Amino acid sequence: MNTVKDLVRFLKKKKVDFSESSLSIRKRLRKSKFRFLGQGCYKSAYVHKKFPEFVVKVNKYTGWDRDCLGVMKLPKKLRKFYLRPAFQKGRIVIQRRCDTKNGNSVKAEIQIQKNFRYDIGRYDVSDYNTGFVGDKPVFFDFCL
Ligand SMILES: Nc1ncnc2c1ncn2[C@@H]1O[C@H](COP(=O)(O)OP(=O)(O)OP(=O)(O)O)[C@@H](O)[C@H]1O
Ligand SMILES: [Mg+2]
Repeated sequence: MNTVKDLVRFLKKKKVDFSESSLSIRKRLRKSKFRFLGQGCYKSAYVHKKFPEFVVKVNKYTGWDRDCLGVMKLPKKLRKFYLRPAFQKGRIVIQRRCDTKNGNSVKAEIQIQKNFRYDIGRYDVSDYNTGFVGDKPVFFDFCL
């Protein structure tokens, strides 16, 4: 099985420069046979056939690191469900790919919500940002 290190090596071999503009990086990813998976307000997500267990995300913005610092501000109990990036450098974030298909994103959202009395949507933990890793419900993106 390919590891995140293999994927980083692969990106470097394909001359993906992690600090280039998001447009240049995305062009290069497409040329290197990455498939566009989806996008939010900040990031575009890509997958590659050789690395089906990971997503490569390209951030439009840099200079702040909400995924690593912001997570500490989340309620502890909620933090446990956060799928931390496996790699982060410049505009690139690599994360385990979760299963969001066939209503699984909604199912994951419901299972996480069950643990809380307040509305987790206030952290943008919604079905746009949830899925399963194995049988564990997780959120892969949030906002404070
Ligand atoms: N780990 C993952 N597994 C599966 N799909 C993912 C994963 N990460 C991102 N995606 C897909 O890519 C889209 C954009 O990724 P992400 O939510 O991280 O970006 P964002 O721009 O920060 O989103 P938002 O607008 O919610 O802040 C997601 O809505 C989802 O469809
Ligand atoms: Mg999102």
